Amino acid sequence: MCGIVGAIAQRNVSQILLEGLSRLEYRGYDSAGICTIDKNELNCIKTTGKVKNLKEAVKEKGCLGTIGIAHTRWATHGVPSEVNAHPHICENLALVHNGIIENFAELKEQLIALGYNFKSQTDTEVLVCLIHHHLQSSDNLLQAFKAALNEVKGSFGLALIDKNDSNTLYAARSGSPLIIGLGIGENFIASDTLALLPVTRRFIYLEENEIAVITTESVNVYDLDGNKIEKTAVESDLDTESISKGRYRHYMQKEIFEQPQSLQNTLLGRLRGDDISTETIVGSDENSFKDIEAIQIVACGTSYHAGLVGRYWLEELTGIPTNVEIASEYRYRKAVVRKNSLFITISQSGETADTLASLRLSKEQNYSKSLCICNVNGSSLVRESDFTLFTKAGAEIGVASTKAFTTQLLSLLILALILGKQKGTISAEQNHEIMENIRKLPNLSQEFLECDSQISKLAEEFSGKHHCLFLGRGVMFPIALEGALKLKEISYIHAEGYAAGELKHGPIALIDKEMPVVVVAPDNSLMDKLISNVEEVRARGALLYIFISKDAHIKQDEQTRKLALPDCPEILQPILFTIPLQLLAYHCAVINGTDVDQPRNLAKSVTVE
Ligand code: M6R
Repeated sequence: MCGIVGAIAQRNVSQILLEGLSRLEYRGYDSAGICTIDKNELNCIKTTGKVKNLKEAVKEKGCLGTIGIAHTRWATHGVPSEVNAHPHICENLALVHNGIIENFAELKEQLIALGYNFKSQTDTEVLVCLIHHHLQSSDNLLQAFKAALNEVKGSFGLALIDKNDSNTLYAARSGSPLIIGLGIGENFIASDTLALLPVTRRFIYLEENEIAVITTESVNVYDLDGNKIEKTAVESDLDTESISKGRYRHYMQKEIFEQPQSLQNTLLGRLRGDDISTETIVGSDENSFKDIEAIQIVACGTSYHAGLVGRYWLEELTGIPTNVEIASEYRYRKAVVRKNSLFITISQSGETADTLASLRLSKEQNYSKSLCICNVNGSSLVRESDFTLFTKAGAEIGVASTKAFTTQLLSLLILALILGKQKGTISAEQNHEIMENIRKLPNLSQEFLECDSQISKLAEEFSGKHHCLFLGRGVMFPIALEGALKLKEISYIHAEGYAAGELKHGPIALIDKEMPVVVVAPDNSLMDKLISNVEEVRARGALLYIFISKDAHIKQDEQTRKLALPDCPEILQPILFTIPLQLLAYHCAVINGTDVDQPRNLAKSVTVE
């Protein structure tokens, strides 16, 4: 979702700001803007569309200054347009904003009554005018900034400059992530560390309701009452390599092919013989989960699908009743919380608004502990959970989640083993067998990637379709859901995932020659049941794409396209059978000519409700 970059230095900052915006493009946006202070004047340039349009405008018009702020906007209030793009200006002040000001309409009315005029439809313009209004009766901008923030309801990550003071950059956060990058004789802000990697690796994370006052030499952080807060800087371990496409055409393609390495990284340093080291779950020890009697998993999108798979493993290996729910639903429901319940969130970004709100809600409920499965160190979920299991997928830039998902699945399997061991529900033999299988996973994932060229051929026929069903049974049902989500989000082909046994209760009415059906069919204990469901579909004329273990038997005819996949242990099937589905979605999107890495209307990290 929207991206923020800010900089204060002794050199011209516009290239740093524009490069930062380019690095935030993956988050999804529809317009962009930049504002520097040049000779005590605000120099603001805004464009719709891609950051390259802004770069061209900056080249043409010029944009100098040693202090500046920049933004990519994903429209919430008002259509994508130059007028609604950020920064928003009120007299001497310029502001960029991520998040939503919920009471903006009533504040706007009050400000109109005070004589303020508005050009845009945005909540952000209201906020910058509110700060300006408070500045008229305050000693300084910090005081006015605090006063305004105390009046607003909603979420924000903010960067603010004043043309009358080119030595100070202001930032604030509540519900929308913001980090400060520390340089030598220069400092930066951004909504994501990736934006600043070319200029620094040292970061301070702003917490909820904190304001930062930043100069070239200093960073001071305050709470909304004006109390100073001591902050510690942390070093990022992300490398710049991880944010280049390398030899691949798209980030998504690169991230699919990185899966053997990212799965290896998830395991790295964690397996000790048949044991998993206690450091694997940050904050835990060998007794942390002994008393757990129930589990609630909450997540969104692909991460929710990972949770659905995780339930099968957690219940099977630990005997702990496990519930899985979409975060945007959980947060508005009065959940019954059982004694000694563990609250688990799953998130690639660690910043998804609904997941974070659910975690915060869980603290008011009767949960005994919280654990997050997350890919981003320093993210809000990580900082606010009791325990963290890092997925270690590495930076994921493509909007469609791929390596984040398979490493989430592996993390959930590891979690089930840890809990099973602590609860004494898993035998030594079973544990040994699963550990041996887990070790084979990176190599097996490499073997599964070898189906790429076959899938690209299948995609040629498939990509012309307008609708599609994905079927799976048991633990492969959530994988069918994930396959359908992948296809629809990047190729724009309408796709739905179904539990194969559910088909005859309604969706079978849709089956005809124009409705391809993808069947996720690894050789496992539910294979026979699945084959019966396949026959029901075949009998109604559907074109079948069956992704099946190579030695499993399936009737072949002109209606059937069979993709034979390597044999693999049953416990690993959900992880490995995801890979061909990712490739199918990828190749269909390429053939359909969509924007694979930044599909329309989507944002990588959904930080607003
Ligand atoms: O960062 P998170 O894992 O919390 O994000 C959750 C969803 O927004 C995300 O998985 C989304 O569904 C992806 N676009 C799926 O590819």
